[in-house]
Amino acid sequence: MTTPRKIIIDTDPGQDDAVAILLALASPEDMEVLGITAVAGNVPLPLTQKNARIICELAGKRDTKVFAGCDAPLKRKLVTAEHVHGKTGLDGPPMADPTMPLQSQHAVDFIIHTLRREPAKSVTLCPLGPLTNIATAFQRAPDIVERVQEIVLMGGAYFEVGNITPAAEFNIYVDPEAAEIVFKSDAPIVVMPLDMTHQALTTKPRIEAFRAMGTEAGRMVAAWTDFFERFDVAKYGSEGAPLHDPTVIAYLIRPDLFSGRYINVEIETKGEFTLGMTVADWWGVTDRAPNAMFIRTVDANGFFDLLAERIARL
Ligand code: BDR
Ligand code: CA
Repeated sequence: MTTPRKIIIDTDPGQDDAVAILLALASPEDMEVLGITAVAGNVPLPLTQKNARIICELAGKRDTKVFAGCDAPLKRKLVTAEHVHGKTGLDGPPMADPTMPLQSQHAVDFIIHTLRREPAKSVTLCPLGPLTNIATAFQRAPDIVERVQEIVLMGGAYFEVGNITPAAEFNIYVDPEAAEIVFKSDAPIVVMPLDMTHQALTTKPRIEAFRAMGTEAGRMVAAWTDFFERFDVAKYGSEGAPLHDPTVIAYLIRPDLFSGRYINVEIETKGEFTLGMTVADWWGVTDRAPNAMFIRTVDANGFFDLLAERIARL
């Protein structure tokens, strides 16, 4: 048996972030969640940190450490996504306010201290939102970059291009300067782009499998995905919504469900129409050095089977 990977989940919940956090908290044999760091993204920070605590309580893991981080991108005004996630970020089923505490330490300080304290290359960062907290930590403490085991992040797109603009994916678009810092950092990066997440759709039978668990967690996941999918179904005419963020956690458990290429990825920070685009050299037409494993495919049935197996434990 391998020892569980130590991870920090950096997140802006978000219904799909919520499912990712539940998957991680349900998988102690694969990962130890050292902390959850909230960032402004889908909704403003006061809501994302609160939502993170709601999700921990739902998982029955009230002792999980939740930290609040940056409330705005490095250089820009915050862009949010209430049109997808609703006013609270976790719209769908009714929810009570959390009672577990928020940690007093700032999320960026927690990331820096944890990477300095733990053995080098033993902590994996799992960003599920804009990269503001991670970039701020790297800027403030450049010594931590080489201590990171891996960054497995949801963001970007190449073949599917954009979801928040015609060219850009939401997480990268919200804070392109932060994304640029992370992609240029030389830390080992795995990217879960829309190209892959758009293959992992919440079809009716997949949602019903959660509801049929008869547990509170199963019922909430079904209700969240029901709410979340209305936007993508209307937009893409697809059978369900892509469940983006849980693919990050699934990759840590079952990397064999995914395939991609190690390529160069640059972030557009100046384009008039292409701000936040992930310029992925999939075809190797430049001599720019590869800096990221860019995932292209997922075994969608394997992914949803894994999700169902783990969520059923909660
Ligand atoms: C990403 O944007 C957010 O709305 C989702 O939570 C996901 O992290 C998809 O583009
Ligand atoms: Ca997210």
